[in-house]
Amino acid sequence: MSKFAEISKITSTTLTQMKREGERIAMLTAYDSCFARLADQAGAEMLLVGDSVGMVFSGHENTLSVTLDQMIYHTQAVARAARRAFVVTDMPFMSYQVTPEEALRNAGRLVQEGRAEAVKLEGGASMATTISRIVTAGIPVVGHVGLTPQSVHIFGGFKVQGKGEMASRRVLADALAVQEAGAFAVVLEGIPATLAAEITRTLTIPTIGIGAGGDCDGQVLVMHDLLGLFDGFTPKFVKQYAQLGRDAEAAFGAYVREVKQQDFPTLAHSFQG
Ligand code: KIV
Repeated sequence: MSKFAEISKITSTTLTQMKREGERIAMLTAYDSCFARLADQAGAEMLLVGDSVGMVFSGHENTLSVTLDQMIYHTQAVARAARRAFVVTDMPFMSYQVTPEEALRNAGRLVQEGRAEAVKLEGGASMATTISRIVTAGIPVVGHVGLTPQSVHIFGGFKVQGKGEMASRRVLADALAVQEAGAFAVVLEGIPATLAAEITRTLTIPTIGIGAGGDCDGQVLVMHDLLGLFDGFTPKFVKQYAQLGRDAEAAFGAYVREVKQQDFPTLAHSFQG
């Protein structure tokens, strides 16, 4: 058993040490206390309250309409359940892009009201000043480069980034800028596996990949994708470890049938006078 399995509380420094010692980091998204508790008990080192909540929980097409108050609400639910895992929350669209001061104020709310232990924000070199402002105030930051979903309309869809020489140099430069600005980890999303491997070798901070191949320091998946709960679409990089959507629909169907046939509730489910 790895020595990290015995650590009772994961911190940002544990994660740095994991990279140094070649121990892979398992991160999962979570949006509520029930699933956060299960992921925490299963040993995930990081729980990400992703703004993907806008898609898998609220049913939006993308992450752009998620608000800061919604992120605080979901972060509170996850933080209440997480005992061991390190809780990171996404800064939603327009909560950090206007000025570094506003970004810091909003990051502060996610920590103070939501009880996040770190915030994640999208963007590379252009976000360096903002990252540095937040870190200097004492809030750990996770960067996010490559396919940054809040820029979906710039990319013209959720498309793989960093293909070709110029584009790949830009993603590498973004990752380095994020590290230089003080982020303690960076998510690499939707980039070629070879580029993610190069960035992982170059950076001293842990890289967490999603759609970025197997050579990152850690991996993250959207929980609903992994559990087979989200049938919007299944990207190539997703592995479904369960079919909870199918099982839930079957259970709901059985309940509906039993109610209609008056097979539920029976005496066993009823109070006697
Ligand atoms: O919002 C999210 O779930 C994310 C992951 C895809 C990294 O940012």
